Amino acid sequence: FHVDMDPNEADKGTYPFYMLKEVDEQPNVMRKLAQTYLDAAGKPEIDDKLIKAMQAADRLYIVGAGTSYHAGLIGKRLFEKLTNMPTEVHVSSEFAYEQPLLSAKPFFIFLTQSGETADSREVLSNVNEAGYPSLTITNVENSTLSREANYTLLLHAGPEIAVASTKAYTAQIALEAILAKALGEDMGLAIAKDFDVRTQLGLVANGMQAIVDEKDKLEELSNDFLMDTNRAFYIGRGIDQAVSLEAALKLKEISYVQAEGFASGELKHGTIALIEKGTPVIGIITQAKTASLTRSNLQETIARGAKTMTIVRESLANDDDDLVLPDVDELLMPLLSVVPAQLLAYYTSLNKGLDVDKPRNLAKSVTVE
Ligand code: G6P
Repeated sequence: FHVDMDPNEADKGTYPFYMLKEVDEQPNVMRKLAQTYLDAAGKPEIDDKLIKAMQAADRLYIVGAGTSYHAGLIGKRLFEKLTNMPTEVHVSSEFAYEQPLLSAKPFFIFLTQSGETADSREVLSNVNEAGYPSLTITNVENSTLSREANYTLLLHAGPEIAVASTKAYTAQIALEAILAKALGEDMGLAIAKDFDVRTQLGLVANGMQAIVDEKDKLEELSNDFLMDTNRAFYIGRGIDQAVSLEAALKLKEISYVQAEGFASGELKHGTIALIEKGTPVIGIITQAKTASLTRSNLQETIARGAKTMTIVRESLANDDDDLVLPDVDELLMPLLSVVPAQLLAYYTSLNKGLDVDKPRNLAKSVTVE
């Protein structure tokens, strides 16, 4: 199966902004990744040399900036769960000038939509100088980070034009899941064999479609919760906390709402002092282990006057929840929980009359340190 890039695909068509088009494209990006990297039986088809090079390592180091860094935070969970390989995630601009103590056999994974981010290039050039093996996961073929790493995996997400990254984030997570399965399976781990990533990505695609079909509801929630505020919190635990960072970044970038993504259990250790009457707090709840804990943390904010909203996976939901997400494997829930956050940011920006695709002070690809 082969999918060619239509040169007109970067056309906005009937969409008012590229961002909305790119959010809507995510179900297809999931399907395309499954078609590209998995065979009909769901077995990963990834260069064996890459898998062997990763297997020879004793630790993975994921490096990225902005949204790509956030995709790395999910990748850490995927790699550690499916391959047992200790995995660290680093912000490239920090790593470049304060390199942490490395393990004996590190393997580097660069996440970068554009393949051109200067902060990440600086790290890769140090990595190459030291002779460590590396992989770039990028959306742009022949980009600098792709050329300079030992291996490349392409995201096949199609051109991403809006400055705020959406489909590249979900594509990075899906590809990390496929790669983690390939590596874990090759290592003979039952948990990786049992992880049916092909079926799961199909469910994710359908789930994303169901969420993007609820645009009216998301616009309404944006009106109720986010239009009249200049700050907001996303809270969650574990993988939900990682998504809350990306959810908050979307609000900051395009809606100019000062938003924080926060570990819900840490709120009481200081930051809860910021909650006052009407402060919006959005809880992301997709993990069975921590669902009731995050719910009680939300209650603590309600007791201080917060206005709360919940984004909850179906099997953990009750009648009072605001947005219910279809159920997929817990490890892949970020692919669904981020979508309402993208749309909430979109509608808040749109209805404030801002330039959704070209927010102030930002560039799509930052080639200076
Ligand atoms: C810029 C963009 C962000 C992006 C970051 C990393 O700051 O505005 O949206 O996440 O660069 O970009 P990359 O291309 O390396 O993923």
